[in-house]
Formats: sequence, structure tokens, C-alpha cells
Amino acid sequence: MTQAVEIKSEDVLHALKDVQDPELGKPLVELGMIQDVKACGGNVSLTVVLTTPACPLRETIENDVRTAINQLPGVEKIDLNITANVSQGVRDGAIDLKQIKNVIAVASGKGGVGKSTVSTNLALALARHGARVGLLDADVYGPNIPLMLGIEQAPQPEGQSLKPAVAYSLKVMSMGFFLKEGEPVIWRGPMLHGAVRQLLGEVEWGPLDYLIVDLPPGTGDVQLSLSQSISMTGAVIVSTPQDVALQDVRKGMAMFRKVGVPILGIVENMSGYVCPSCHHEEEIFGRGGAERESQVQDVPFLGTIPIDMKIRIGGDTGKPIVAESPDHPVAKKFMDLASELAASVSRSNFAQAQLMMPPVS
Ligand SMILES: Nc1ncnc2c1ncn2[C@@H]1O[C@H](COP(=O)(O)OP(=O)(O)OP(=O)(O)O)[C@@H](O)[C@H]1O
Ligand SMILES: [Mg+2]
Repeated sequence: MTQAVEIKSEDVLHALKDVQDPELGKPLVELGMIQDVKACGGNVSLTVVLTTPACPLRETIENDVRTAINQLPGVEKIDLNITANVSQGVRDGAIDLKQIKNVIAVASGKGGVGKSTVSTNLALALARHGARVGLLDADVYGPNIPLMLGIEQAPQPEGQSLKPAVAYSLKVMSMGFFLKEGEPVIWRGPMLHGAVRQLLGEVEWGPLDYLIVDLPPGTGDVQLSLSQSISMTGAVIVSTPQDVALQDVRKGMAMFRKVGVPILGIVENMSGYVCPSCHHEEEIFGRGGAERESQVQDVPFLGTIPIDMKIRIGGDTGKPIVAESPDHPVAKKFMDLASELAASVSRSNFAQAQLMMPPVS
């Protein structure tokens, strides 16, 4: 009679030694992503801790781990638990943001390209993937987020503390909550700087994996204030596909680079239009310009969002497409976009952490 092989947890770790995180290019074991390994008879149990719940390569990683463990003689059952612990992107800055792991600015060189629409739906998509997400509307000149999320009641301060509004599963704060409707506000530099700092540092955000910041268009004071107040994770640039918009993209990227903010990627919005009646596709603003630009600039391309009436109606009625019609093909595009962004955040945070590690002597 053959003796049953007894598997030990060290054997499991050894079997996994060459399985890499495809995004970070390092073994999962070395990255501390394999935890709670237990072996009992032919049963193996373990936890894989991903760097984001929105990981686009979740299935690949799971398959690679299962395949490697199955190579061990005697394995009968693998009990694999997958969780995530989002990596830290925010570092020490003028404002202490201890509970916020990543601050991601959504910017564009040009107005009206869909920053607020993309910010809102990206934030909702990250939350649907299972992340804790906040959305800060820092567009002092035209705050649209309350409207886009259907928030009618501004949050009221309770004594000294200001809690964000909650819409769907997002924590939301907006300059719009403090301005009178229809009244223009002339912001002077120091006032603006103070307001940005208050919205970041004095709001009780609680623990967040990602805080998405919707910026006004261009390369003005808010952008500067933000980069001076915190060391943010990075910026996402939204563009339409045509050349004039791309010219402004270059300006926007140059500004972020100058102040040391990593570019996490480019999104091409309003990329093609599919007629809902005849399904003919029209490339109203062209297509592929932003993707080509991302190659030239050597930054990640996060994906495309088409022109779709449901997106516009969702924005105008406070019922964003990702929350209200999650099975719509465009909502799925936002889910993929969120995964690509989360992966880019993980890569950028990993690269920054490597840079800060003391050299091995
Ligand atoms: N992919 C899309 N399909 C259809 N409509 C869209 C799409 N993206 C944005 N829109 C619509 O275009 C208009 C402008 O979008 P949005 O307000 O998001 O742009 P913005 O870049 O934030 O503008 P601003 O520079 O003024 O802040 C809105 O009415 C929005 O609903
Ligand atoms: Mg906007």
C-alpha cells in the first residue's frame, strides 16, 4: 500500500515561488501577497491578497496559483480565498491624509471633454469592484458633481466636524455645497488654496482606498493648490480623440510632470457613436487619437468611452449609468476603465516604494 504524501505549508510556498504578479513582475510570495497557508492531508488553504479589489488580472492570478499548487503530489482540494489590501500612494504632504490611501486627480487641458462624467462613473465603478471610494468635486468654477449624483441636501456641519454626503456608495464633497446657485464666485489665490485644503483635510472622509478629485479644466490654481497641499498618487487625463483636444492634453501632462505628479493614464471619451436605431458607428470626433498620444508620451492608455445618450441623461438626472444600469455595455466599459486605473495605481505605488527603499549593501 502506498503511503499518502503529507503536504506542508512550506511545500505550498515553494510550489508558488515562481508565480508572479503580472502587473508588478515579482513573485507573489516575495510581495507578501500569499498569506494564511495551511495544509491538512490533501487539503490546502490559502489567501491571496491583491493590491486592489478591481484587479484586472484576478482570474489569471487565481489560475496560476491553482496550477502551481496542483503540481504538488497529493493535492486534493484547494481552498483559495482572494482579498485585497490597496497600496498606499499618498505620502507625507502639507496636509495629513492618513486614512486616505490614494488621491487621484481627474484632469484635462480642455473644458467640456467629460471629466466630471468620467470622475463620477469611475468612482462608482471602483466602488462596485469593492473599493472604499470618495469623490471630491474641486471644480470651484462649475461644480457639477452634486447634480450628477442627484444630491439635493448639502451635508451640514456638526460642531467642528464636516461629514461628506453619501450618494450610492460614494462619500462626496463638493464646492457646490457651499456656493449659492447661479451666483458666480470670484476666487482669489489664497482663498482658493484655503478651500482646497479644507475639503481635503478637514472633511471626515474616514478610511478610503481611492479619493477621486474632479478638477476644473486647464492648468490653473486648483491644480497647483492640490499638488502643493498633498503628494497625490497621480493624475488621469481625459481627452476627446481629436487633435485640438490632444494639444491641450500635452499641456496638462507637462504641468503635472513639472510638479512631480505621476500620470496614471489617459482616457479617450466621446470615442465614436453607435446609432441606437441602425447600429451604424460614426466617429464624430475621430478615434484613437488619445491612444496614439499615450504611446508617444509613454503613459498607460486606460480605455475608451463612446458617446452615448444614456451617459448624458444619467448625468443630467442624477442617475449615473454605472449605478443605475450596471449591465449596460457602457457601464461595463467604465468597470474595465476602473480596473485599468487601479492596476496603474498599484504599479505606480510599487515603483515609488522601490525608489524609496534603501539600496541593498
Ligand atoms: N461619453 C459621453 N456620451 C454622451 N455625453 C457625454 C459623454 N461624456 C460627457 N458627456 C456630456 O457632455 C457634457 C460635458 O461633460 P462633463 O461636464 O463631464 O465635462 P467636463 O470636462 O467636466 O466639463 P468642464 O470642463 O466644464 O468641467 C455633459 O452634458 C455630459 O453629460
Ligand atoms: Mg466638470
